[in-house]
Amino acid sequence: MAILELTNLSYDYITKAGRVHAVKEATASFDAGVVYAIVGRSGSGKSTLMSLMAGLDVPKSGKILYEGTDLAAIDRDRYRREHVGMIFQSYYLLPQLTAAENVELALELSRYKGNRRERAGEMLSLVGIAKAQFRKRSTEFSGGEQQRIAIARAIAADPSVILADEPTGNLDNENSRNIVGILDELAHRFGKCVILITHASEVAERADVNLHMNDGYLRHGA
Ligand SMILES: Nc1ncnc2c1ncn2[C@@H]1O[C@H](COP(=O)(O)OP(=O)(O)O)[C@@H](O)[C@H]1O
Ligand SMILES: [Mg+2]
Repeated sequence: MAILELTNLSYDYITKAGRVHAVKEATASFDAGVVYAIVGRSGSGKSTLMSLMAGLDVPKSGKILYEGTDLAAIDRDRYRREHVGMIFQSYYLLPQLTAAENVELALELSRYKGNRRERAGEMLSLVGIAKAQFRKRSTEFSGGEQQRIAIARAIAADPSVILADEPTGNLDNENSRNIVGILDELAHRFGKCVILITHASEVAERADVNLHMNDGYLRHGA
């Protein structure tokens, strides 16, 4: 069974200038253990689609099934907290907190039951942050390192779906490859469903499946 299934999903923004049809009848299905790349020009609806999949916005029509259950029938906040991890172009780490505290805070917010300090350490190690760095403030890290900490934070509560909106958008090639390598490992070694939005063709090429978004329409293939 697909982990996420979208059927005829639509979303509009109401603006002063009128209605913007950001997502039009999107239908797609996403499996565990697979990396998906969504490509398409700016304004084509990619981020809107992602926020629908994250349960941050409610579709105007159509439905989203998570493990066969309609999101409309479950608690969206809980869905987001327990099953979805998000990563953004501009990391959004809390600058006054250390690397470890950023991850521990996310665990607290998602009501993680185990030992948060231990879990945060494991996640930071997994993304290649050395133990000696755990207690450094997040602003003291390079961009590539900050994105790795953001990934540690996103996966800490063990979500099954990882949504990444332009995760390599601010990074050079080497750091970009490193981030894609980690996302790859999350899917192929840990069985996560990884869905990433990207402008970079070299990032899209490394994904298992490419989807294309054009003027609100989603289709398979680059
Ligand atoms: N908060 C918003 N209010 C009004 N229109 C929006 C808002 N966010 C996005 N849009 C519009 O919706 C369309 C899709 O935007 P978006 O999903 O951000 O595309 P992408 O991520 O592919 O650049 C665009 O026309 C954009 O201007
Ligand atoms: Mg966007």
